[in-house]
Amino acid sequence: MDFQTKLEQLFQQNNERIKEVDSLDDLNQIRVQLLGKKGPITSVLRGMKDLAADERPKVGAFANKIRDELSAAIETRKAQLEQAVIDAKLASETIDVTLPGDPVVAGTPHIIIQIMDDLESFFMGMGYQVLSGPEVEEDHYNFEMMNIPKDHPARDMQETFYINNELLMRSQTSPMQARTMEKHDFSKGPLKMISPGVVYRRDDDDATHSHQFHQMEGLVIDKHITMADLKGTLLAMCQHVFGADRTIRLRPSYFPFTEPSVEVDVSCFRCGGKGCPVCKYTGWIEVLGAGMVHPNVLRAAKIDADVYGGFAFGLGPDRFAMLKYGIDDIRSFYTDDLRFLTQFSQEG
Ligand code: PHE
Repeated sequence: MDFQTKLEQLFQQNNERIKEVDSLDDLNQIRVQLLGKKGPITSVLRGMKDLAADERPKVGAFANKIRDELSAAIETRKAQLEQAVIDAKLASETIDVTLPGDPVVAGTPHIIIQIMDDLESFFMGMGYQVLSGPEVEEDHYNFEMMNIPKDHPARDMQETFYINNELLMRSQTSPMQARTMEKHDFSKGPLKMISPGVVYRRDDDDATHSHQFHQMEGLVIDKHITMADLKGTLLAMCQHVFGADRTIRLRPSYFPFTEPSVEVDVSCFRCGGKGCPVCKYTGWIEVLGAGMVHPNVLRAAKIDADVYGGFAFGLGPDRFAMLKYGIDDIRSFYTDDLRFLTQFSQEG
């Protein structure tokens, strides 16, 4: 068989194979077999040395032509197969943009957070700064700086989770009074702050007690602060939370870090003071503890108690929320039942 026929056959056979091959890997194999150094075309070209000199250019040109055509056929098939891969991928990844999306369920801030946010903006409007402090607190700040030495019976007022002798889960936000007083620079103005946060007590949990609840501490220190300032501030706050018609009354009480100390009652927002189940027929609801900062607390924080003084208060956002929304079990706030929590969606 002469070279020409051999080459033509080679072309016919392989041109068909190339058109029919259906994977890029197989196509690549064909390319290597056919056009590689050990392939049939190379061997034809090698065999040319046995030809007559005038035949060689003709056969050479023909062999090159066949090689070029086969490699063009391979390139064409390669492009087709690559396009097919892309088409298959596009088809399998089709997105129907007209389908309705998955609904995004927007959460709602926890009711306690809503109450605290509202109180924070109320107090910020009166120039208070909002500070947060550590929940794992030192005995030093939680008690000693607050005028409650190690063996003082007032420690029994707050059943405390101790971590060791010096560290505890804070039982009140009052340690933030001491921490802030210690740092405050009175040349820059009076100290006015609130400090919201979680506190912990070793109480048995029941409808009105939880081992974890919230407090918001308030503290004002300056020259010439009186109990009238305390009363005016708390009246404004109670009217903001419980309604513009509310009045408050102060009853004598005891806290180691305030002197005098008071328990603050707000006139019942349900019956307006006539007496109903919410106020247990007294017309008044106890809402927070407060008082004038004890000189010992000022001195412990290295503040001159003869020049400076002020008031402090501690309120319970959990209790505020219970009163405001008629919730009868504090544990509802902490058991994460969405049927309860979503009732307080702000979109309302
Ligand atoms: N820390 C007190 C408590 O937890 C509340 C309080 C704060 C009272 C500030 C007076 C002044 O009971």
